[in-house]
Amino acid sequence: MGEVITITSGKGGVGKSTLSANLAVGLADLGKRIVVVDFDIGLRNLDMILGLENRIVYDVVDVMEEKCNLTQALINDKRTRNLYFLPASQTSDKNILETEKVAKLIYDLKKDFDFIILDSPAGIEGGFEHSIFLADRAIIVSTPDVSAVRDADRVIGIIDAKSQKAKDGDEVLKYVVVNRIRQNMVDKGEMLSVEDVLSILALPLIGIIPEDNQIITSTNEGQPIYYNNKSQAAEAYGRIARRILGEKVPMMDLSVKKGFFGRIFG
Ligand SMILES: Nc1ncnc2c1ncn2[C@@H]1O[C@H](COP(=O)(O)OP(=O)(O)O)[C@@H](O)[C@H]1O
Ligand SMILES: [Mg+2]
Repeated sequence: MGEVITITSGKGGVGKSTLSANLAVGLADLGKRIVVVDFDIGLRNLDMILGLENRIVYDVVDVMEEKCNLTQALINDKRTRNLYFLPASQTSDKNILETEKVAKLIYDLKKDFDFIILDSPAGIEGGFEHSIFLADRAIIVSTPDVSAVRDADRVIGIIDAKSQKAKDGDEVLKYVVVNRIRQNMVDKGEMLSVEDVLSILALPLIGIIPEDNQIITSTNEGQPIYYNNKSQAAEAYGRIARRILGEKVPMMDLSVKKGFFGRIFG
């Protein structure tokens, strides 16, 4: 049976969908059979990041309402053949998901995939609880600013209270990703550091992703940044994928003097 990894956050716009896409590609690249599901009903953009928006015929709600079967709805990635994508519905009703139907869908996916990556809506929105209640693991994404961290903290509480694992007396494995770090700003004290974020969230760190302008271009082109071997963010996503598989991978050195930019401009 596969494992469910929910990618979540308190605030919107912190980088969940970008992480979901690139982690999915990364794990598939490491040989795992992966499905990434867009649970952000009404706000879909994972399809754009993966460059698969033109291939969509059915979506996750169609599967749950039995308008089609899973095989019909799953979209095979163009480049990475052991990666599949299940798009979100464009309906405006965020509360359309029903617990039992979500559970059946996830159960069916677990039979066929090594990892099911759920790209969830932000913690304040409808549909959020559906994306965490069957999670085996959760990655909480935060940017290094006070409001994002505070909202992330609240979401951790909800996962601990409302997941099926919690109801069974077990615990969802939770980790933090700090996204959009600008080391030069951290050094000047203008941005929270990773340590600051962790001191509030008190969870293990599974990745630090630097601010990377190439992410916008890659999303516009429908080519996940993971494939760009010149990008520092791509390297960061690859390391997260390996850590998910249990490999001990050191954190990237983003420091301005010794790091990549330091060597070029320093
Ligand atoms: N590390 C990063 N560097 C630069 N831009 C980023 C980074 N991560 C995400 N973004 C940008 O931030 C915006 C929000 O990201 P997205 O993944 O859609 O967030 P969410 O799914 O949490 O709403 C997008 O425009 C995305 O390209
Ligand atoms: Mg998103």
